[in-house]
Amino acid sequence: MDVHSYSRPDLVRVRHLELEFDLRFDRKVLDGSATLRFDATDQPELVLDTRDLEIHSVENATGFTLGPRDPILGSPLRIGLAKGCSWVRVQYSTSPGASGLQWLDPPQTAGKQHPFLYSQSQAIHARSWIPLQDSPAVRVTFQGRVRAPQGLHAVMAAERAGEHFRMERPVPPYLIALAAGALEFRPLGERAGVFAEPPLIDAAAREFADTEAMIRAVEQMYGPYRWGRYDLLVLPPSFPFGGMENPCLTFATPTILAGDKSLVSLVAHELAHSWSGNLVTNATWSDFWLNEGFTVYLERRILEKVYGPQREEMEAVLGRRELDREMAGLPESDRVLHIGLQGRDPDDGCTLVPYEKGALLLRTIEREVGRARFDAFLRSYFDHFAFQSITTDDFLAYLRRELPTSVPLDEWIYRPGIPGGAADPHSDAFGQVESELTRWQQGHAIDTHAWSTQLWLHFLRTMQNPDMARLDREFHLTESGNSEILHQWLLMAVRAGYQPAFSRMEQFLASVGRRKFLKPLYTELMKTPEGRDRARRIYAAARAGYHPIAQTTIDGIVRGSE
Ligand code: BES
Ligand code: ZN
Repeated sequence: MDVHSYSRPDLVRVRHLELEFDLRFDRKVLDGSATLRFDATDQPELVLDTRDLEIHSVENATGFTLGPRDPILGSPLRIGLAKGCSWVRVQYSTSPGASGLQWLDPPQTAGKQHPFLYSQSQAIHARSWIPLQDSPAVRVTFQGRVRAPQGLHAVMAAERAGEHFRMERPVPPYLIALAAGALEFRPLGERAGVFAEPPLIDAAAREFADTEAMIRAVEQMYGPYRWGRYDLLVLPPSFPFGGMENPCLTFATPTILAGDKSLVSLVAHELAHSWSGNLVTNATWSDFWLNEGFTVYLERRILEKVYGPQREEMEAVLGRRELDREMAGLPESDRVLHIGLQGRDPDDGCTLVPYEKGALLLRTIEREVGRARFDAFLRSYFDHFAFQSITTDDFLAYLRRELPTSVPLDEWIYRPGIPGGAADPHSDAFGQVESELTRWQQGHAIDTHAWSTQLWLHFLRTMQNPDMARLDREFHLTESGNSEILHQWLLMAVRAGYQPAFSRMEQFLASVGRRKFLKPLYTELMKTPEGRDRARRIYAAARAGYHPIAQTTIDGIVRGSE
């Protein structure tokens, strides 16, 4: 039972979609037609999820009604079926404010010439641009056809042939994705490539040059990549996430184009979802940790294989530290892996807990049973549940049968916090940075020219009462072109009231819509009266450029206090 869907897949289960989209950039509306196919049924109705859709007609139905709009779930579309019915066709239009689409004007793109559109369906936003059974427990194959204006290149996360698209492997609705813009394509190897706007395509191809090596690394550990091609799409900076694992076509923020491959853990992460998440899928949003915890574990294994154990260790320590920091501010009920989401928007349950606590659980099991046995287990897990949606209980039953362990699983999954006996990642390189930090604080000059992003993050996060002016003088952090370092620095600048960084911060908040960066900065700003004024002023100007998902989050931070 999925509390985030009105649909009843236990009664009628949609198995295939035929989608036709006309992109109307002038009105920021998608005119759509969705044909839904299911096994012939005598059920009297088919219930679909929708949000802010205008339904024009339903073909092959005895009638339809659109129920009242729930702020979280949207409106149920109840379609009357004749006996033996096996398909219906819905003609509809989306609303300009569709929660799962962002329509960008040319100034919000890299090229500044053409508009851009992209979808973001996870968790429950597919229903704002396609009427369907919007539960991750329902898997569908689909065909798509997209008509875009002249000069724009439309893509769906599927096998592509011109304006036609086809997904032959059953996927949950949150993985259906669409984008259109002035896109160029560059191959990265046999199976991999990247789409980006022309001004970014060279930088993107350089940054993602190791993608094929990453695919091979996962395949060696967990079995074949089952989705044909693996391409990346670099989106405009308002994309609210770092990345989204749309099958065959990962969507990514341009803020990972650091120039030195230092932020490609995101590619490892989204690629890993091709196994954990896209192949074996969380059946409900309460099981989200099955997607993300497994993926962070796999991501780190990829990093270790492609970039070496030191890189992996640093990422693991950074992850653990951020988890502890975030968890300290969360209610106990959100410090568990299997979280209660009744009456809540699943986007709200998206903290580091499913990611980092989930990964730490797997690392703890690995440490106990040994890497060879754990890898064999994971490989068989992906085979066993391939193309299925499973619950936490399904996983637990399989684990208890295949790989008995003394790790206190129930405590990890249902109780708050990190149980005793958890794996404890350690980085020698960070130990050295801590020594350097001490020397620096004693007034010595230190040699940082070869420092990686990860070392910088640890250096900055470890510092107490930072001397902001000296840091900036010696290391030019306000000018950093690395989004993660800059974000960390700006956060410190707000805390310390360090004025010289404020105009850079305003520029950052005005141009970047990645929620992971916005949320901490606005939260920190809201802690003082001057910060509140600044936050309100910045947000008033920036809000229209943010994605609806980010708007909702930041509304809660900035407007919630008015
Ligand atoms: N699937 C998530 C993004 C997501 C989660 C979208 C929940 C909507 C609801 C994606 O794989 C992800 O985890 N992205 C992270 C980056 C990752 C490296 C931790 C992000 O966007 O920050
Ligand atoms: Zn993820």
